[in-house]
Amino acid sequence: MEYATLGHTGLLVSKLCFGTMTFGDGRGLFKALSVVGQAGADQLIKTAIDGGINFFDTADNYTEGQSEQMLGQSLKNLNVARQQVVIATKVYSRVGPGRNDVGASRGHIMDGVEASLRRLQTDHIDLYQIHGNDSVTPLEETLRALDTLVQQGKVRYVGCSNWQAWKIAKALGISEFKDLARFDTLQAYYSIAGRDLEREIVPLLESEKVGLLVWSPLAGGLLSGKFSRTKQKPADSRRTEYDFPLVDKERTWKILEVMAPIAKAHGCSAARLSLAWLLAKPVVSSVIIGAKRVEQLQDNLAAIELTLTPDELGQLDEVSALAPEYPGWVLPFQGADRMGPAERRVGA
Ligand SMILES: NC(=O)c1ccc[n+]([C@@H]2O[C@H](COP(=O)([O-])OP(=O)(O)OC[C@H]3O[C@@H](n4cnc5c(N)ncnc54)[C@H](OP(=O)(O)O)[C@@H]3O)[C@@H](O)[C@H]2O)c1
Repeated sequence: MEYATLGHTGLLVSKLCFGTMTFGDGRGLFKALSVVGQAGADQLIKTAIDGGINFFDTADNYTEGQSEQMLGQSLKNLNVARQQVVIATKVYSRVGPGRNDVGASRGHIMDGVEASLRRLQTDHIDLYQIHGNDSVTPLEETLRALDTLVQQGKVRYVGCSNWQAWKIAKALGISEFKDLARFDTLQAYYSIAGRDLEREIVPLLESEKVGLLVWSPLAGGLLSGKFSRTKQKPADSRRTEYDFPLVDKERTWKILEVMAPIAKAHGCSAARLSLAWLLAKPVVSSVIIGAKRVEQLQDNLAAIELTLTPDELGQLDEVSALAPEYPGWVLPFQGADRMGPAERRVGA
């Protein structure tokens, strides 16, 4: 395993984080997603820890809290000392029928943290993330509530997930000027089939030293090797039932066609190759891997040892490149001799 700091902090996390969204009995919104019971969860967490993972991600709304509960229980069942693991969870998504059982208001954050601590059987959360963009709550209210939790010791670091670049930039400015805990991480969707965040978000994160935690690195299993242009609905894959995250399928088939000979040359799966491509991106602090079976997790863990040649990375970058978009395409026309790596990427 390799380790990196969590953004611009002193906390070391494994470059692969284990995401526990597969834990639970498949109720509600998580019908196609969660299939792992407590015994299976214990096995997956043990395999992750044996493989060097010290970083686990969950959320208050994953299968109505079951994911948090089972993660906490597995760590107890396996006698894992609390300081050996870094636990990330989230608040914001709807967790009940009440008007205020959702969002990033001070009230919901205060209620949410207590519920998460209880389910996780812990007295602190290492990374507490605002799961989505709340267009109702003033940003400063959310940041002040998070800062209170940091002062109280209930939360150690704070982050956000699925936020727009402008709003992250605004939040970082408020935190700095009002001396509040700042977002150390963004958790965002990024995969070789979905590189949209390279346009505005990656340059922001690099400039402001915010870590990137990648969710759905296999685009929900689409990049696992089970799918191709000729095999679009394999059995026993959640993506067949639940078409998420959104991707351009035609582009993805082309990417998978370029990946196939590279994966064959390394004797590895498309899943492992997709993860190795992400791990090679300097902006990535940790890639959150998902698995419903131990064999999948073992396959994914091996991505750490897969080093791709510059030529292979070049082929993968080329086939998955974003179409130029304004203002990216205009940058090379204006002062090419003054462009940094961020401008070169969006202008390519
Ligand atoms: N912040 C957010 O909004 C957000 C959103 C989504 C996820 N997340 C986080 O990110 C984590 C990972 O997301 P994800 O589960 O969508 O990740 P993913 O890696 O894109 O998809 C994981 C799924 O792909 C299949 N798979 C994984 N490894 C495989 C392998 N080696 N061979 C074959 N199939 C394989 C499995 O499903 P099948 O066997 O059914 O194909 C597995 O459940 C979650 O647990 C959660 O912590 C966060």
